[in-house]
Amino acid sequence: MAGLKDTRPPFSGLSAKSPQELFGALPTPCYILDEAALHRNGEILAGVARRTGCKILLAQKAFSNYDLYPALAPYLAGTEASGLYEARLGAEEMPGKETHVFCGAYREEEFEELLQYADHIVFNSPRQLEKFGPAVKKAGKSAGLRINPECSTQEGHGLYDPCAPGSRLGTTRAQWDEKMTPELIRLLDGLHFHTLCEQDSDALELTLDAVKKRFGDILPRMKWLNFGGGHHITRPGYDIPRLERCIRAAQQEWGVEVYLEPGEACALNAGYLAARVLDVLQNGETRLAILDASAACHMPDVLEVPYCPPLYGAGRPGERPYPFRLGGPTCLAGDVIGDYSFDAPLREGDLLLFGDMAIYTTCKNNTFNGMPLPGIFVLRSDGRLHCLKAFGYTDFKCRLGS
Ligand SMILES: Cc1ncc(COP(=O)(O)O)c(C=O)c1O
Repeated sequence: MAGLKDTRPPFSGLSAKSPQELFGALPTPCYILDEAALHRNGEILAGVARRTGCKILLAQKAFSNYDLYPALAPYLAGTEASGLYEARLGAEEMPGKETHVFCGAYREEEFEELLQYADHIVFNSPRQLEKFGPAVKKAGKSAGLRINPECSTQEGHGLYDPCAPGSRLGTTRAQWDEKMTPELIRLLDGLHFHTLCEQDSDALELTLDAVKKRFGDILPRMKWLNFGGGHHITRPGYDIPRLERCIRAAQQEWGVEVYLEPGEACALNAGYLAARVLDVLQNGETRLAILDASAACHMPDVLEVPYCPPLYGAGRPGERPYPFRLGGPTCLAGDVIGDYSFDAPLREGDLLLFGDMAIYTTCKNNTFNGMPLPGIFVLRSDGRLHCLKAFGYTDFKCRLGS
């Protein structure tokens, strides 16, 4: 995970133009969403759906810039939500398509409204199914249970492993055997698992074996099986034929409709974050540049995952003559974007362009330290650039009080 994500073509959407030519006039920091890249991802996903008959949903937790939903909608069956607000967004902004929701636990006061937006509601536990399942059926909606196949396929990556021991996510077979009565099973239309993170289809294959071992006797009674997200389908080199074999195997063996709900794969390499150098300094051997963009505020996954985002025209440390550690202007000592190297020393005012910045950024950023939220621009498929949203002081202040 650490290191540059060099398996991806994060800057292929620039069509050989430089960041300065394309984005030199934009106020920084700002995100730029790449419509043509969304279309390319959509085409890959639609190919999988067409060849296998599965349905693919956009997991909005990764990408929820709804102005761009029309670019993805023709390729997808609908959206997946993590709760009431995302479900409403999906229903409003991808109208006429399916709206699925999974939440660790639903609240009573939100459930009636949720039923207006969602058509598939997935519960995390038998107790939640018992509490809300009858209302789902009464409303004529589809009810599912998230299972935990207890199959960890990612080493040393506990933050993103719902199968880790003691996980709160998904119902294990032991929990199922203890709590699932025949009445509860009758409420169910489908099962859901989500266990992967930026993985290839070999990990899915392993997971499906575990699903079969633990829940293979239940699945023939279900109408659908949702394979969750974490499938890096649009990454170059991803093994799509193996994914399709997995989908067909589930369809044939259990007679279920298969859903996938990737977030990353929908908007992978479909955005940039433009930033400028505010200051350049030296501490001992380390050359540093402070940018007007912050890892902590504007690309939080850089610290959380963690990873080092791709940067246009830069190399890994040692690859080019001038090394620099890039960081944000906040007080957090660890607000470091990463170590890079350049062909020339960085100078105040230089424009830098980070790649793969459409996912888990605009929907996850924050104003810690009173940092301004970056504006959001769209690079349209025809090359036009326009501003979707600009933010200011009020956006910072209005979340904090009257
Ligand atoms: C239940 C569920 N579905 C889908 C996703 C989307 O995953 P990704 O963006 O890695 O494809 C997630 C991510 O956490 C998730 O928890």
